[in-house]
Amino acid sequence: MKRITRPISTSFRKASVQDLDKILVIENRTYSFPWSKEKFIDSFNNPSIEIQLILLDNKIVGYLLTLLSIEFIDILNICIDTQFQKQGLGKKLLDNLLARQKHSEIKSILLEVRESNRAAINFYQNYGFKLLDTRKKYYSNLEDAKILRFQIM
Ligand SMILES: CC(C)(COP(=O)(O)OP(=O)(O)OC[C@H]1O[C@@H](n2cnc3c(N)ncnc32)[C@H](O)[C@@H]1OP(=O)(O)O)[C@@H](O)C(=O)NCCC(=O)NCCS
Repeated sequence: MKRITRPISTSFRKASVQDLDKILVIENRTYSFPWSKEKFIDSFNNPSIEIQLILLDNKIVGYLLTLLSIEFIDILNICIDTQFQKQGLGKKLLDNLLARQKHSEIKSILLEVRESNRAAINFYQNYGFKLLDTRKKYYSNLEDAKILRFQIM
């Protein structure tokens, strides 16, 4: 029998509190140091924070939390569900973020990443982020943070 296949569609939308349980499932199975439910609720209540979802055929497979400042955006959390990693979806979330800045005053994107998170550092550097600084003992387990920056213009 011939199998009928159709392209999987990727889409984006802003998260609402109704998405929180699904976000937490992904967060908890992806990170060794996941964000707490309270931290996500604080983010939903902060008007300067945006939570953008990426969906495959309407299923949430990842998210990007960003904090808007005057001339830059801080990436607070980017996460792709484990089974969907390394398929270009993280890159699509960043492309989507950049595409939405076209007519804004935003000049750069900043983030902190654990020094031990080599996969994420590789992902960011592959995208064009450059190392800006190191913050010693930044995390609660006293791990250093690497500060990376992507220059938009
Ligand atoms: C980091 C993360 C968001 C990347 O998303 P992704 O969808 O897996 O990444 P992509 O498939 O878009 O990868 C794009 C490029 O990044 C690099 N990259 C991605 N994952 C990588 C890995 N595990 N190891 C090394 N390089 C990697 C590759 O160069 C890749 O390009 P290629 O496929 O042409 O080689 C995702 O792996 C993730 O959610 N990780 C766990 C959460 C996390 O650590 N978030 C960052 C916190 S600061």
